[in-house]
Amino acid sequence: MVCFRLSPVPGTGLVLLCLVLGAVSSYALEFNVTDSEKAVCLFAKWQMNFTIRYETTNKTYKTVTISDFSTASYNGSVCGDDQNNPKIVVQFGSGFSWTVNFTKEESTYSIDSISFSYNTSDKATFPDAKDKGILTVRDAVGFRIPLNDMFRCNSLSTLENSGVVQYYWDVHVQAFVQNGTVSTKEYLCEKDKTSTTVVPITSTAAPSPTTAPTPKEKPEVGSYSVNNSNGTCLLATMGLQLNFTHNKVVSIININPNTTDFTGSCQPRSALLSLNSSNVKYLDFVFAVKNENRFYLKEVNVSVYLVNGSVFSIANNNLSYWDAPLGSSYMCNKEQTISVSGAFQINTFDLRVQPFNVMEGKYSTAQECSLDDDTILIPIIVGAGLSGLIIVIVIAYLIGRRKSYAGYQTL
Ligand SMILES: *[C@@H]1O[C@H](CO)[C@@H](O)[C@H](O)[C@H]1NC(C)=O
Ligand SMILES: *[C@@H]1O[C@H](CO)[C@@H](O)[C@H](O)[C@H]1NC(C)=O
Ligand SMILES: *[C@@H]1O[C@H](CO)[C@@H](O)[C@H](O)[C@H]1NC(C)=O
Ligand SMILES: *[C@@H]1O[C@H](CO)[C@@H](O)[C@H](O)[C@H]1NC(C)=O
Ligand SMILES: *[C@@H]1O[C@H](CO)[C@@H](O)[C@H](O)[C@H]1NC(C)=O
Ligand SMILES: *[C@@H]1O[C@H](CO)[C@@H](O)[C@H](O)[C@H]1NC(C)=O
Ligand SMILES: *[C@@H]1O[C@H](CO)[C@@H](O)[C@H](O)[C@H]1NC(C)=O
Ligand SMILES: *[C@@H]1O[C@H](CO)[C@@H](O)[C@H](O)[C@H]1NC(C)=O
Ligand SMILES: *[C@@H]1O[C@H](CO)[C@@H](O)[C@H](O)[C@H]1NC(C)=O
Ligand SMILES: *[C@@H]1O[C@H](CO)[C@@H](O)[C@H](O)[C@H]1NC(C)=O
Ligand SMILES: *[C@@H]1O[C@H](CO)[C@@H](O)[C@H](O)[C@H]1NC(C)=O
Ligand SMILES: *[C@@H]1O[C@H](CO)[C@@H](O)[C@H](O)[C@H]1NC(C)=O
Repeated sequence: MVCFRLSPVPGTGLVLLCLVLGAVSSYALEFNVTDSEKAVCLFAKWQMNFTIRYETTNKTYKTVTISDFSTASYNGSVCGDDQNNPKIVVQFGSGFSWTVNFTKEESTYSIDSISFSYNTSDKATFPDAKDKGILTVRDAVGFRIPLNDMFRCNSLSTLENSGVVQYYWDVHVQAFVQNGTVSTKEYLCEKDKTSTTVVPITSTAAPSPTTAPTPKEKPEVGSYSVNNSNGTCLLATMGLQLNFTHNKVVSIININPNTTDFTGSCQPRSALLSLNSSNVKYLDFVFAVKNENRFYLKEVNVSVYLVNGSVFSIANNNLSYWDAPLGSSYMCNKEQTISVSGAFQINTFDLRVQPFNVMEGKYSTAQECSLDDDTILIPIIVGAGLSGLIIVIVIAYLIGRRKSYAGYQTL
């Protein structure tokens, strides 16, 4: 028998806030499996969400986020017996299936692997998917936990495989529960151990100088282009600096054009520029046309490798930057910040882009960003000041002349 509940995350304030903002509030999944004697043999409570990057029919990539588990069912979850291992099976949404299985050793048990399946035939979730069908990603976990301990990991864990990023946090799980009693003894993941030991130190000690983000030099400016059968169709020249916060650590990455590969595609109404390097898995800029006569940066998808080998991915397809008329280019020499999410921003330097209507491989006339406008404004102010001064001098001169005329007449 399987019992479960969807419980709102503790902290009503947060839940309320999410409701007010109209966002999908995040829910903890919680359930237990009982054996034939109605004794609990498997317990789990956790939060998760997924992002899936897939290829569309027009050779661009889209990313969808799966975070609604309100329809979750747990058919197929079993305690396990002599022949079969315990597993948690969750079905949700339109054809998603998530499975984790466990094995038992002498004095430990292991989380063996996690499989996640999705159905790209579902047009509502995966519009314009190129490949249609059930796709499955499987990650071997091999995590060992002492028997009769509850595994806990409040910190964020990330699994990344074939364009699917799985995020887990607030995880509590115990397989092979003995005597029907879920253990109160917790076995913590590495990240939770470090965060519980680090937090008291930082809260009692004065802020250490190492917490201040090390100022990085300006990134080198790179030139990127995309060709189609008619020649160059997209041009971009820019210095790029990535700034992201992961587990409260701020990382700054300067894109070195010498060691960065780029590719892309051009469509009548959308264009893609995709960069990658040894520490950036992908950095995609997607441009779109709006109101038939302007282009803008609509979407950024980015995935960076972290020190521990995992990846940190963010996508936002609702941006509105670099807006300029079709047939022109967009230019911004000043440092500009593209806020992809609260945790990820891109600082751009000496930027010029033209994602549409490139003629003969050259930029068309540029529309400058408002940040650059003050460089125009300054001469205007100085000019206005100067002409004011000239007027004053002329008036003073005229008055002086009248005075001297007057003086002449009295003579
Ligand atoms: C198992 O699930 C049921 C139903 O949600 C709940 O009443 C019970 O407390 C759970 N047992 C444990 C040990 O969490
Ligand atoms: C998915 O989880 C990550 C990590 O907790 C979080 O930053 C992100 O906002 C979540 N996305 C959604 C749509 O809930
Ligand atoms: C799960 O099982 C219940 C009852 O056995 C059934 O009504 C339901 O349709 C099943 N759900 C799925 C997704 O298979
Ligand atoms: C766990 O499931 C995967 C398939 O999802 C399977 O290949 C693997 O053998 C299973 N492991 C155990 C111990 O049952
Ligand atoms: C995948 O989705 C399509 C369209 O919704 C549906 O026809 C098909 O039966 C699904 N496949 C499976 C194996 O559920
Ligand atoms: C389970 O019950 C048996 C017998 O009642 C006892 O010997 C054993 O110590 C119990 N195990 C745990 C983990 O409580
Ligand atoms: C190439 O240029 C021709 C003529 O301007 C146009 O009809 C055609 O659609 C272009 N092809 C592509 C791939 O842009
Ligand atoms: C694009 O085409 C131009 C000539 O039209 C060529 O000089 C350039 O190397 C090509 N760029 C790429 C990335 O293939
Ligand atoms: C990086 O982002 C953090 C948080 O948004 C911000 O405080 C910091 O000033 C940024 N640093 C740079 C160099 O952009
Ligand atoms: C990139 O290459 C150019 C010329 O080969 C060199 O001057 C420059 O220092 C290199 N930049 C970096 C960051 O390695
Ligand atoms: C792909 O093509 C479809 C129609 O063919 C269009 O609706 C969609 O906007 C295009 N998407 C991109 C990203 O170009
Ligand atoms: C960029 O990605 C391509 C294809 O995945 C790969 O072959 C290439 O080595 C990558 N470039 C760098 C600089 O890592």
